Amino acid sequence: MKYAARLGRITPFRVMELMERAKLLETAGHRVVHFEVGEPDFVTAAPIVAAGKRALDAGETKYTQSLGIPELRRRIATYYCELSGVDVSEQRVVVTSGASAGLLLLTALLLNPDEELLMADPGYPCNEVFVFLVNGVPVSIPVASNQDFQLVPRDVIDRWGAQTRGILLASPANPTGTMLRRETLRDLLTVVNERDGFVILDEIYQGLVYDDAADYRTGLELSDELFVLNSFSKYFGMTGWRLGWMVVPQEAVDPLARLAQNLFISPSSIAQHAALVAFDPPAMKIHEARRAAFEKRKILLQAGLENLGFNIPVNPSGAFYLYVDVSHTGLDSTDFCWRLIDEYQVATTPGIDFGDHDAGRYVRFAYTTDEKSINLGLARIREALTDWGT
Ligand SMILES: Cc1ncc(COP(=O)(O)O)c(C=O)c1O
Repeated sequence: MKYAARLGRITPFRVMELMERAKLLETAGHRVVHFEVGEPDFVTAAPIVAAGKRALDAGETKYTQSLGIPELRRRIATYYCELSGVDVSEQRVVVTSGASAGLLLLTALLLNPDEELLMADPGYPCNEVFVFLVNGVPVSIPVASNQDFQLVPRDVIDRWGAQTRGILLASPANPTGTMLRRETLRDLLTVVNERDGFVILDEIYQGLVYDDAADYRTGLELSDELFVLNSFSKYFGMTGWRLGWMVVPQEAVDPLARLAQNLFISPSSIAQHAALVAFDPPAMKIHEARRAAFEKRKILLQAGLENLGFNIPVNPSGAFYLYVDVSHTGLDSTDFCWRLIDEYQVATTPGIDFGDHDAGRYVRFAYTTDEKSINLGLARIREALTDWGT
C-alpha cells in the first residue's frame, strides 16, 4: 500500500516506546514511577460522572448541534464571566471533541496549502501535524529559557514572510509549564494584527496555575479577535470524554459550523451533558482541591530535582510539567530517559518529543502522580546520579 507523503513527516512520540518499556517492567513485577503521563491521575469528578450517567438514562445518545448544545455553550460563556469578568457571547463558543478537534478545525479554517503557521519549539508535538494535514507549513521557532520558552514579538517580526498567516501560542505551555505574560501577549497581538494575521491561543491548561505570576485569566481579556482553544481534559479531569471548546471571532462561527458538521457532525452528546455540571460549585470544589494537590506536588518535585543539582531555568507557573535541564549528568536527554527507565524504573519524556531546539538538554517531568511516588522517584534518581558518578 502506498500511503500519502505526509505520513513520512509524522513521527511517533518517543515516549511511547518508553511507555512500552515501562509496561513490560510492570508486567515483570517492577514498581515503575510515572513522570511521563500528560493527563491527570485523578478520575473525573463524581458530579460530572453522575451527570453523564443521568444523560445516558435520559436517552441523550443522539447527535447534537454541530457547535454544541446551546446550554453548554451558554454555560461556558458564563464561566468566562465568573473567571475574569470578561463578556463572551455564547454565539462565539464552539464545543469540540477535545482541543485536538479544535486544532484541526482551526488549521482547516485558516490555512491554505503552503501557508505558514509560526509556533514555539519546544511545543506540543501534535500542533505541526494538524498543519501538515491541511498541507500548510508549520514553522517552529526556537525559544529559549530567557524568553520563558514563549514566542516574543521579535521572533514574529523576524520570521514573518509572504506566506505566513498566523501564530500559535500556548499559556500555560506544554512541555514547559510557562505562561505568556500579559504584556508579551498584548505586543504579540499588535505585531500580528499589523500583518493582518491571526493568533491562536491554546489555554487548555487554564485553571492549572499555581502562583500569582498570572496577570490575566484568559487572553480574551485582551482581544475578541483571538482564536482561543480550551478543553475539559486537564483542569476538569475529563481526558477520556473527549470534549473541549473554542472561543472564536464572531465572523468565524458560521464557517466553523460548516467544517464541524462535515468533519465530526457533533461532539459527544453524553460528554456534553456531563460537562454541563463541570463549572458548578460541587465539581469546582473538587477541581480546586486537585489543583492544590498539583501545586504541592510541583513544589515537592521542583525542590527535589533542584536539590539533586538539576536546573529548571524558568519557574513554571502552570500545567503539570517541569522542563528540566539534565545536562549536568553528562547524558543526552534521550539517553538519560532510557537509562532512568531501564536501570531505575523511572519514566520521563525526552525533550526530542517536543521539538529540536536544545532537545538533548531537557527532559519533561509530569507531576501527574502522587507525592509518595514523587518521593520514590526522587530517591531513585538520587541513586542513579550516585551510581553514574554525576
Ligand atoms: C498544549 C496542548 N494542546 C492540546 C492538547 C490536546 O488535548 P485534548 O484533545 O485532550 O483536549 C494537549 C494534550 O496534551 C496539549 O498538551
